[in-house]
Amino acid sequence: MTKHIGILTAGGDSPGLNAAIRSVGKSAASYDMQILGFRDGFRGIAENRVQRLDGETLSGILTTGGTILGTSRDKPHKMMIGGKLHDMTDAIVENYHANHLDVLVCLGGGGTQKNALRLMEKGLNIITLPKTIDNDVAMTDVTFGFDTALGIATDAIDRLHSTAHSHHRIIIVEIMGHRAGWLALGSGIAGGADVILLPEIPYDIDLVAEAIRKRAQKGKNFSIVAIAEGSVTKDHHDAYEKALSAKEYATSKEDKKAAKDKLDELAKQQRNHTMHLGTQLEALTGLETRVTILGYLQRGGTPSAADRLLATQLGSACVNLIIKEQYGVMVAARNNEAIPVPLQEVAGRKKLVPPDHPWVETARHVGTSLGDL
Ligand code: F6P
Repeated sequence: MTKHIGILTAGGDSPGLNAAIRSVGKSAASYDMQILGFRDGFRGIAENRVQRLDGETLSGILTTGGTILGTSRDKPHKMMIGGKLHDMTDAIVENYHANHLDVLVCLGGGGTQKNALRLMEKGLNIITLPKTIDNDVAMTDVTFGFDTALGIATDAIDRLHSTAHSHHRIIIVEIMGHRAGWLALGSGIAGGADVILLPEIPYDIDLVAEAIRKRAQKGKNFSIVAIAEGSVTKDHHDAYEKALSAKEYATSKEDKKAAKDKLDELAKQQRNHTMHLGTQLEALTGLETRVTILGYLQRGGTPSAADRLLATQLGSACVNLIIKEQYGVMVAARNNEAIPVPLQEVAGRKKLVPPDHPWVETARHVGTSLGDL
């Protein structure tokens, strides 16, 4: 009996999404399965906005960035419609059955895994693929999108060396990754950054300045600082932990409000922390400092060969699971294999950089400052 596969892409776009869509579609076609795309993440299946995917629409998309289906960060249970939040879970269940789906394939990051689990708990057959440039999805060695972003950020650091040594400047480059440091750590090492700052290792600005001054004393009067967008100073980290604890254990409304105000104030301070770091380093070292925020460049353009290969492998493995009717899983990359992992073990968890990770040791070993010692 012909199986009907629904597919959607959710969360931030990333290179490799179209390669994964193509792989699921082409693998399914060889088993005479029908594949139906839903537009713009979970909103598409909530509003039944479908896009037929056939040989024609899947042709030529292996190398294109973004997602032909569109994406969004909409959550099934909290979807903004007409200016109000609605729980659209039942509408999704209804459209799943109205389209006679046998399975819904969701391509996304950590948030998507959580949303997919919710739909699984409503009785839908779900399979997810791990996508994000942040590489912070639990239970998979790597996510597609990461390798391409790693290359973009590394190329940027290479290029920023030109102006750093020509103008004897500190160049700070902010790298994406949300609350994880994988992209900054990987590209910082690959690009030879002199300082790498990570969310997982709160930094001391004086130690960063000291590392840069030591380089200048050895005649290297320029430095490259690769900072993950989620990085925090030790002071900020301690103040945040203190305010969080105060909020959690507050006994009066006044104390709870005071703690919440403090958390809001800290979040506001954090918004331009990279620009602030630039001003501070210039004052502390006497070296001209400039800041580059890579932002969405890291999510754009054609996927790397590694991401195309990974996305194609995971998409193909997804169809094998559909044939076996093995649902409620994420197709994880594990030692070059693609293995099913129960969604319950993935959803709600993040994979952050362990402070003793081999890459951290490697960075320290080649003399990179992580702002903590
Ligand atoms: O999750 C991918 C990511 O690019 C993060 O690195 C970044 O913090 C976030 O998305 C930006 O979100 P948005 O695309 O909604 O601005």
